[in-house]
Amino acid sequence: MKPTRPFHQTPVITIDGPTASGKGTVAASVAATLGFHLLDSGALYRLTALASARYNIEPEDGDALAELVAELHITFREGCAQLDGVDVSTEIRAEEIGNRASAIAVHGQVRTALIARQRAFRKPPGLVADGRDMGTVIFPDATLKVFLTASDEARAARRHKQLIQKGFSANMEDLLRDLRERDARDSNRAAAPLKPAVDAKTLDTSGLSIDQAVDQIIGWFNAVPA
Ligand code: DC
Repeated sequence: MKPTRPFHQTPVITIDGPTASGKGTVAASVAATLGFHLLDSGALYRLTALASARYNIEPEDGDALAELVAELHITFREGCAQLDGVDVSTEIRAEEIGNRASAIAVHGQVRTALIARQRAFRKPPGLVADGRDMGTVIFPDATLKVFLTASDEARAARRHKQLIQKGFSANMEDLLRDLRERDARDSNRAAAPLKPAVDAKTLDTSGLSIDQAVDQIIGWFNAVPA
């Protein structure tokens, strides 16, 4: 169902949450249903992580990483993420790149360098943006803010399935440990930590299908007064 009400500004739905909470799949489906653009902000951090590994920039070197962001040649085309014109969509999904992305995301300079690239995705008829700080920092005036959660076990099981489907090897115990570590780092960092915006609606997806989560979000969106 497409929105028919006029919005004064291009509408944005932000979907934040911890790793493997279902954000990516749910955000893509909400965007497709509404005919909105999609921002997978985690992909930008992952692309930066991949480039930093290629150029041998240490994850601790915030200044060098921020300079790298300014020079990155990134494009998103038909669901594919490209770095310097080469499709790296599969490579950036590797766990080691996700962990490196989480490590470089602690630097305020890196986050600041990525702000303009993220806000540029806000174009008519609307945007669905998923990440950690979409509702708190990047789009504080979003039309609807959603915070997705799910139990650690449900998230580890989802990540396991995703990785196996993409041809990576994965072990449940390692995944559970990695995702807890990643949550702790994403939530405890000083710069834009993972947390629900004060005006976010929380949705626990542990026992929900993708369609149920999507329907709930579209229902909330359609109920927002224009
Ligand atoms: O959503 P993801 O797993 O693709 O994100 C990878 C890492 O990037 C995540 O662990 C933390 C970082 N990230 C972030 O700090 N802020 C965002 N808006 C998105 C991702």
